[in-house]
Amino acid sequence: MGMSDTPNQTVSRRSFLVATASGVAAAPLVGKSANDAHRPSNQIRDPVHITLRVNGQTRRLSVDARTTLLDALRDHVGVTGSKKGCDHGQCGACTVHVDGKRMLSCLMLAVSAEGREITTIEGLAQPNGQLHPMQQAFIDKDAFQCGYCTSGQIMAAVACVKEGHANTTEQIREYMSGNICRCAAYPNIVAAIEQAKSQMGS
Ligand code: FES
Ligand code: FES
Repeated sequence: MGMSDTPNQTVSRRSFLVATASGVAAAPLVGKSANDAHRPSNQIRDPVHITLRVNGQTRRLSVDARTTLLDALRDHVGVTGSKKGCDHGQCGACTVHVDGKRMLSCLMLAVSAEGREITTIEGLAQPNGQLHPMQQAFIDKDAFQCGYCTSGQIMAAVACVKEGHANTTEQIREYMSGNICRCAAYPNIVAAIEQAKSQMGS
């Protein structure tokens, strides 16, 4: 007990600490937004009905409102080419195109993607099966080993060229730096992008 504590103050502080440590006081505050705090918990978990446009097809889904676009694609739509590497926006394995721009699908909520055109690696080739020039270039230049990062690399690479960020080797390296390859196939990836960019009309 501190020199200035009265017995009542000590009991009050101790009661607070015990309650907090046991989760009684803290639990209602953890993991909820200010709006959530006023919503019944069953309402937060109620599925939301959304419509996604994935690779030119319309898909209607019922998902938890907190579902990321990556999980919606993999677990609900069934397109599993986009990979979950870190789930924290740090590796690029989950890269897809949303309205033609590259996006880390692990950082985007599925509900935010409603009404937008989503393209995954499965939607990159022509309907007749002809590979996109970037896909062909990755094969030609042997730009992968285990392949886990490859779909994200290819989606980012296509965007990199379309953005006009593939003018030099250094620029390609810079604008592809968000896509990690644990197999360190970087020189081959750069070579593939340099091959594909001329065929993409850039
Ligand atoms: S899984 Fe999305 S950035 Fe790593
Ligand atoms: S090819 Fe293995 S992580 Fe890139």
